[in-house]
Amino acid sequence: MTSPARLAMAAVLAVGTSVTLAAGPVTAEVPSQPLRDHASARDFLIGTAVATGPLAGEPSYRDTLNREFNAVTAENAMKWDATEPSPGQFTFTAADQITASAQANGQTVHGHTLVWHSQTPGWVQGLDATAMRDAMGNHIGTVVGRYAGRIATWDVVNEVFDDNGGMRSSFWYQRLGESYVADAFRYARAADPSAKLCINDYNVEGINSKSTALYNLVSRLRGQGVPIDCVGIQGHLAIQYGFPNDLRQNIQRFADLGVDVRITELDVRMQLPADAGKLATQSTYYRNVIDACLAVARCTGLTVWGFTDRYSWVPDTFPGQGAALPYTENYQAKPAYQALHDALAG
Ligand code: XIL
Repeated sequence: MTSPARLAMAAVLAVGTSVTLAAGPVTAEVPSQPLRDHASARDFLIGTAVATGPLAGEPSYRDTLNREFNAVTAENAMKWDATEPSPGQFTFTAADQITASAQANGQTVHGHTLVWHSQTPGWVQGLDATAMRDAMGNHIGTVVGRYAGRIATWDVVNEVFDDNGGMRSSFWYQRLGESYVADAFRYARAADPSAKLCINDYNVEGINSKSTALYNLVSRLRGQGVPIDCVGIQGHLAIQYGFPNDLRQNIQRFADLGVDVRITELDVRMQLPADAGKLATQSTYYRNVIDACLAVARCTGLTVWGFTDRYSWVPDTFPGQGAALPYTENYQAKPAYQALHDALAG
């Protein structure tokens, strides 16, 4: 092959198509094919959290987002403090930007989140029981109703457990008791009967007291006819704490309850500075998580909590740690990206 022809072929392969040469058809294995193409081919959602700032202002962010991912979650734009900052005053500008962008780019939207102890305005936290239940119903009805038919899945409740597997002593629990969980799911089902409704939490990757409490709650509520369709395992991991080797087994036990499972917020942080060895270890974590999910039919998707180290909650939240995502701050794919890619392509 002459050099210009080789270059031309490389250019075509780089955008993920096969070429026909005079000598006969050449269907190339294309390593640069985006994650979403491989994911869609197996009916899998590969998602990312999206921040509205760079979505509006940064072409490299948008290009990578829309090339690689077939699902999105609003990192903050759909939380209560963003959508209903004062009683009955709803603001959907940021949430609308994300859903419109997703629709234009063929991405499924995962709604995050309706009822949480964090990023919820003070006015909600100060209500008495009756008013709090009413506010919850109104909030869920308005937000879920607005996006009915456009948001496929919702994190209806987020982080309802403490790390020992007790109910978290949030203002929700203190005022309403455990019943707020079932009520939230019923309000959401009424507002959009077609949306899949999820319960989401962290430190539930392996089999432990917290994930077992989650398992027991989902089992009990489904037994009572409460509309819970899915479980979200956040997946905020750190290489210095080791990998939860029973992740696949844990996903499987939830699937056996008859619910879908999603990895909803995957990131794998490390002590900074990053180096080649840590990035290689990180890539094995990414690979192990996606392999565990792909091994269970009801594990329908994996979402990373942001895709570029340029915009990650980790350095702000865990001082001295970072480099948790599949792309560098300059949008270079890291070994972790390759790990996701190879698993989806394999
Ligand atoms: C985080 C966002 O990434 C930050 O930008 C924000 O300041 C705080 O919340 N679990 C969740 C997510 O369910 O909503 C959190 O997102 C990370 C932990």
